[in-house]
Amino acid sequence: MCGIVGYIGKRNALPILINGLKRLEYRGYDSSGIAVLQPPDIWMRKRQGKISQLELEIEAENPAGTTGIGHTRWATHGAPTRENAHPHFSCGNKIAIVHNGIIENYSMLKDELMAEGHLFISQTDTEVLAHLIEYYYTGDLAAAVRTALNRVEGTFGILAVAAEEPDCIVAARRGSPLLIGIGDDETFMASDGSALVEHTRKVIYMEDDEMAVLGAENVTIRTLQDAHVHRPAEELPFRTSDIRKGGYPHFMLKEIFEQPDTMVDSMRGRLLIEEATAKLGGLEGFWDAIRGSSRLIITACGTSWHAALIGEYLIENFAKIPVEVEYASEFRYRDPIISSKDTILAISQSGETADTLAAVREAKRKGALALGLCNVVGSTIARETDAGVYLHAGPEIGVASTKAFTSQVIVLTLIALALGRMKQLSAEEGARIVNALGSLPDLTRKVLANVDVVKALAKKMAVHNHALYLGRGFNYPVALEGALKMKEISYIHAEGYPAAEMKHGPIALIDRKMPVVLVAVRDPVYEKVLSNIEEVKAREGWVIAVVSEGDTMVKHLADEIIEVPAITQCLTPLLTVIPLQLLAYYTAVEKGCNVDQPRNLAKSVTVE
Ligand code: AGP
Ligand code: GLU
Repeated sequence: MCGIVGYIGKRNALPILINGLKRLEYRGYDSSGIAVLQPPDIWMRKRQGKISQLELEIEAENPAGTTGIGHTRWATHGAPTRENAHPHFSCGNKIAIVHNGIIENYSMLKDELMAEGHLFISQTDTEVLAHLIEYYYTGDLAAAVRTALNRVEGTFGILAVAAEEPDCIVAARRGSPLLIGIGDDETFMASDGSALVEHTRKVIYMEDDEMAVLGAENVTIRTLQDAHVHRPAEELPFRTSDIRKGGYPHFMLKEIFEQPDTMVDSMRGRLLIEEATAKLGGLEGFWDAIRGSSRLIITACGTSWHAALIGEYLIENFAKIPVEVEYASEFRYRDPIISSKDTILAISQSGETADTLAAVREAKRKGALALGLCNVVGSTIARETDAGVYLHAGPEIGVASTKAFTSQVIVLTLIALALGRMKQLSAEEGARIVNALGSLPDLTRKVLANVDVVKALAKKMAVHNHALYLGRGFNYPVALEGALKMKEISYIHAEGYPAAEMKHGPIALIDRKMPVVLVAVRDPVYEKVLSNIEEVKAREGWVIAVVSEGDTMVKHLADEIIEVPAITQCLTPLLTVIPLQLLAYYTAVEKGCNVDQPRNLAKSVTVE
């Protein structure tokens, strides 16, 4: 989710807000906007695209006002247009809010408010909240925000202002970060310390289900249930010089480390614990057609194609629907046999990849039901498919895809789980998968905590020119993905193979100089992978193995070991891929490569 800034004090708010938004640019966004209180009105400007464009638009106006809020949006509901950008207003334009997160019950609330005569101008979930606050507003903004938020399901970090109360900003959070910066006779708010560190390092971190009423000289925090909260200010643990990319040297590393959070975002509101299944709003009304399909064709390119391969295993395993995975570029030209009984699922982070889009159009032309699995809201593939699911992984800026991959695998797991539970998957099996998904973010944190082991390995890897990546079953696509990451950013020639295929050719390449990365976690193909490691060792290959925590068998055979915690077999790719992302990253850094923008590559390939 994207960025929030707020200011209340004695200075002109506008330049402080613009500057704060620029500090949050590293997070990526699709539009931005600002509101400044000018009683009896609220001045507001917003637009699609870069903050510099918003700045140009308002330069000449320079509105005065010492209270204001600003936002950078990463669309989750409604395309990234000017209309959908924040701030959002109530009908009378007297209340404005900025919001990060997702209001899950927005459509129910919207129906209710429309029946009361409220008029909506955007497609966002956020606008509902502005109207809901207006509905409860009787001259006390804090009271109205509290009542409104107690009716909301989902996640939020919000700032709200009312034209009638220019001396206060109301802030609240649940599952979306918000901190308050204390200055001298001025108060700052931001979703991220980078936006306020140049003004103050004295901050209060808000916690979930808390609400703050902020003035220039006072801060009062209470829970959403109206209980008193006392929390002393702390010192921000970094300085202005540290804030590029939120403290990370590259977007890719930031995005790798974000994965415990982006995994949660992709699952949020989608797991039904009692029913032991998943709920995907975007596919409502289409389940019968999907379930009744004679086959599901998953099409994609690059990393998204690797996620598709895992999807094939998942859906065939849980739902027993035949799945075919096709490179979009091949599918579109080989005159595929498709009928109206088929469903095509296109996977694309950007939602703009030309080959994937062409595959969707071809399948639709031939009568198939077309589904999309995209990260970018309102992207062409998302718009042209009949239905679909968003990843909600937040903006991915590094050209090498990382967090989008794990979110794709999670959403594919949810689709497989929902379909499986509609067919033959037992409640017990479903519950086991739901629980394992719940444990995933913490286990991912554990894998990331092991970064130093991978860093040390990368130093040794960087001197090689070639590498082989091997895996089996659910981890065969992980081998492909690990190899793709390595070649994309470090320019080391890396090949991914199903481990058993090695003996049909690639084994000829193995000698003392050949690094062989093997995924050898404890799963039903573990013993087989052990034999493959023996084969490599017999030819003196340098074996790096990703193993389950506590493994002793591989330890005796492999030269290098990276441990990952145990998890149910179908979710192992989500943990095993992380050290391989890190290995590629640190190898590229060691070689002095431009990690975020590798040579010859584009983030979104919109040409054939
Ligand atoms: C991944 O690291 C690549 N840069 C690339 O393979 C990418 O996954 C591919 O171009 C597909 O992009 P999409 O997911 O945006 O469609
Ligand atoms: N759900 C909101 C929207 O789509 C907020 C998105 C964000 O966090 O930037 O507008």
